[in-house]
Amino acid sequence: MERILVTGGAGFIGSHIVEALLAEGYKVAVVDDLSTGKRENVPSAARFYQCDICSPELEAVFADFEPDKIIHAAAQVRVTVSLEKPQIDARVNILGSLHVLELARRFRCSRIVYSSSAAVYGNPQYLPVDEAHPLNPISPYGISKHTVEHYLHMYRELYGLDYVVLRYSNVYGPRQDSSGEGGVVAVFTDRLLTGKPPVIYGDGGQTRDFIYVKDVARVNVLALKAGSGGIFNVSTQTETSVNELLKLIQMEIGGSGEVIHEKERPGEIRRSFLSNRELVRTFNWHPEVDLKTGLRETVAEFRKSGSSFSKGQG
Ligand SMILES: NC(=O)c1ccc[n+]([C@@H]2O[C@H](COP(=O)([O-])OP(=O)(O)OC[C@H]3O[C@@H](n4cnc5c(N)ncnc54)[C@H](O)[C@@H]3O)[C@@H](O)[C@H]2O)c1
Repeated sequence: MERILVTGGAGFIGSHIVEALLAEGYKVAVVDDLSTGKRENVPSAARFYQCDICSPELEAVFADFEPDKIIHAAAQVRVTVSLEKPQIDARVNILGSLHVLELARRFRCSRIVYSSSAAVYGNPQYLPVDEAHPLNPISPYGISKHTVEHYLHMYRELYGLDYVVLRYSNVYGPRQDSSGEGGVVAVFTDRLLTGKPPVIYGDGGQTRDFIYVKDVARVNVLALKAGSGGIFNVSTQTETSVNELLKLIQMEIGGSGEVIHEKERPGEIRRSFLSNRELVRTFNWHPEVDLKTGLRETVAEFRKSGSSFSKGQG
């Protein structure tokens, strides 16, 4: 069976990818510096290397594990960090990714599946946003995620290293960071479970496209075999407002229904959802977990792992 190296495999999405790979019988290794990820997120059946993807030690990881293919999910994921310290964001997301690509080339890996983001599009000019939408990222994070897509194309053209780019919408599910910087589902769930009122910025009418992490993990596994040289949105193509989302989480958890309203955040995108037509056509993939079911599973997991919420992972 093929050997798959998952960068960022101790993180939220990466750890679900690792589980999905193991379930399919792949040999899996994780490389992660544990900056936001956790060692306990990595199943014992996967080999673990604690290593910064920017460090020279990464070469020894490739030499030791000899991966056939790479799933590259390690990144500096916080938009606010990217705005405050764009060099740090670029170091991990651009230079770190380039390091992974160079080693993939030198160690003759055949394919790399890359976790990109809807952040590459910036403010939607039309909805749903498809892959042909102009790319005008409005954060250093969006720029760094997109820059790697160019390198991937170049490595395929020059060196025959195949790739698949997956641009995720808003991913949610168990193990997501619930600190202020985390995803809105994790933040709301954490607040409600700890008896604190959730905070809504603006009127709560802003919309997003929420996709369950296990559906995202499944696409990563499929992309090891299909979608050669392609760029795909990974989304449910469904628009949900923050108010609707909160209502669904409140239905699961209960509570007083109290909400704190704060001023709208400057630059916040009003409406966003992504077309998944290309993904469905190429991979014959459909999101299997609807929002209500996904939220139920997420809340149940957050309840079980009580120690991890309210602290966040940062
Ligand atoms: N969560 C979302 O909604 C979302 C949306 C779009 C794209 N993405 C992308 O998905 C990927 C996974 O994000 P996530 O939400 O699971 O975040 P996460 O922070 O849980 O996962 C990132 C992982 O990378 C590791 N990491 C960070 N810097 C590293 C370095 N220098 N060397 C080695 N490991 C390093 C972290 O420790 C962590 O385990 C990222 O590439 C992110 O850009 C996430």
